[in-house]
Amino acid sequence: MMQVKVFEDYDTLSRYAADIFLEQIEKKPDAVLGLATGGTPEGFYKHLITSYQNEKLDFSTLRTFNLDEYYPIKREHPQSYWTFMNDRLFAYVNIPNRNIHLPNGETTNVDAECNRYEEEIGSIGGVDIQILGIGENGHIGFNEPGASFDSRTRMVELTKNTIQANSRYFESEEDVPRHAITMGIASIMQSKKIVILASGVKKAEAVAKAIQGEVTEELPASILQKHPDVIFLLDKEAASLLQS
Ligand code: GLP
Repeated sequence: MMQVKVFEDYDTLSRYAADIFLEQIEKKPDAVLGLATGGTPEGFYKHLITSYQNEKLDFSTLRTFNLDEYYPIKREHPQSYWTFMNDRLFAYVNIPNRNIHLPNGETTNVDAECNRYEEEIGSIGGVDIQILGIGENGHIGFNEPGASFDSRTRMVELTKNTIQANSRYFESEEDVPRHAITMGIASIMQSKKIVILASGVKKAEAVAKAIQGEVTEELPASILQKHPDVIFLLDKEAASLLQS
């Protein structure tokens, strides 16, 4: 079932997302969390850290899998998704390093790395709860428009739109890696529960198409209409093109 909730502001939306995670973790303290990068989940991570500091959340038995990583990129690169996660969450909570998983952007054998990642997720029973953002073109993870709904973890080429959107984090557009390793659409759809966040008017069109448009590989997030347990958390701007 798909649920949609619209919030007055970004902070309320972020807190609500964190509360959904807390509720799941309470039921399953060794839950497998699917994590995402990008500007949108930053508030969500802040609320998770606050919950940890208030002793409402213990990361010691949790396991995390991130959606994607640029390729090629060094783990310690300031813009790697590994660094992003470390700076926004992992450095502040008691998660054991061995419980943290991201695709390895340094690998020399991309196919083997993709298979390893996919198998590792499978071997621990799959993701229990996945946080997602959405690209301006409707991408999820780095599954750009046209990606097969059957796709699994693999290397992909980033679109011009995504390179431009992500260049704000790099010194220049030329510095943005052209490729990434990403969980596929089928990998994401296997998560038992999905929480997808969108904030700002730039996301309004992708959000309206994802929720009310045709289910098509041209708009990767539209596949979520077929997921049994997905909730869209939107601020008013991101929800502004939804038909009531
Ligand atoms: C990035 C990530 C996605 C993210 C999206 C939106 O390229 N690979 O996982 O959801 O783009 O990012 P933002 O939240 O910064 O708008």
